[in-house]
Amino acid sequence: MDSYPAISDLEARAKKRIPSFAWVYLESGTGDDVARDHNRTALDAVRFRPQFLKGPLAPSIETTLFGVTYAAPIGIAPVGLTGLIWPGADAMLAQTAARNTIPYVLSTVGTEAPEVAGPNAQGMGWFQLYPPRDDDMRTDMVDRAKASGFTTLVVTADVPAPSRRERQRKAQIRVPPSIGPRLIAASALRPSWSAGIVRHGLPRFRGLEQYVDSASMKNTAGFVGANLGGTLSFEYLDALRNQWDGPLVVKGILDPDDAVQCRDHGADAVWVSNHGGRQLDGAIASIDALGPIVDALDGAVPVLFDSGIRDGLDIARALALGADFCFAGRPFLFGLGALGENGASHAYEILREGLTTTMHQVGVESVSELERRLATSR
Ligand SMILES: Cc1cc2nc3c(=O)[nH]c(=O)nc-3n(C[C@H](O)[C@H](O)[C@H](O)COP(=O)(O)O)c2cc1C
Repeated sequence: MDSYPAISDLEARAKKRIPSFAWVYLESGTGDDVARDHNRTALDAVRFRPQFLKGPLAPSIETTLFGVTYAAPIGIAPVGLTGLIWPGADAMLAQTAARNTIPYVLSTVGTEAPEVAGPNAQGMGWFQLYPPRDDDMRTDMVDRAKASGFTTLVVTADVPAPSRRERQRKAQIRVPPSIGPRLIAASALRPSWSAGIVRHGLPRFRGLEQYVDSASMKNTAGFVGANLGGTLSFEYLDALRNQWDGPLVVKGILDPDDAVQCRDHGADAVWVSNHGGRQLDGAIASIDALGPIVDALDGAVPVLFDSGIRDGLDIARALALGADFCFAGRPFLFGLGALGENGASHAYEILREGLTTTMHQVGVESVSELERRLATSR
């Protein structure tokens, strides 16, 4: 812990160990990265007014959501192309979740099949769906998620169309990666990553392969663009609600009216997120969207939050503003890139310890008291 006490320490080391094209995929936002960076500035602006002289405090951070008690109100957000960022990442993230009793959300475009990742997560797995256009494919994917032991279905709303992601275009990210001089040159400089590829194989969209005919296998990314997304509507949400009998979450909500409608259409939680600033460079900071959504929902369903969390202090900020649970995307991948398979647990430790330390500093024992210690208005 002492060599890498902050997520930024993991980030700096990961940057040196992940090939440049995969690094750009992980850390970039879209456009000029304004929305990504603004998530941070807006979080930094949320401040507390501590109270002291309270004697010994024993902060409690266990959090129950959908009937499951998690060790802390933080989970691993869905990340696509995981195995490109760090070979074998999906298995490592699932094991991190199982070991630490926190949720892990497998992305539709992750690089492991739900049939493998679900059992690996040992009851901690949630499944994220990019809504397929084809009804049969949707039904099949949701059934597979259920059969693989995923407890919670997360449908992502904030990709109505692919974002431009100019920096990723320049980095020419492809899946499976084409093995040309560029890849070989970039990987040669990153021996741990390359050794991982030798061990785990080139990353593939394993969960989607059965829907892709072999002719187009080379460009599964094209298949994803053509078949997933751009379809989500409240009618579509109704269909999902009818099919999935477990907790259903809508991810990527920034507008209070959308949040209320999601609840009216049967969502069990709303996940406030601007996708880590990867979709709309002019989007509101996720933390600025949170308060009005919490107010509009008025406790009807839990509110989940992500985008920009880099410390337990940020989790405390989001909880103080009314979130019930938080997620982080990049930090867990920074952990894997920096330290290999135990790195995601290290990232979790940083976040967990940061939350309890913040609670000590602010002077509260339960997360529900954080709101009263806010120095900034909601
Ligand atoms: C490399 C990368 C890939 C992502 N892929 C997905 C995805 O497949 N599905 C999804 O719903 N969100 C995806 N997201 C968004 C994350 O789930 C999450 O909303 C975001 O990372 C939160 O911001 P943070 O990275 O600052 O924590 C991705 C984010 C990153 C950084």
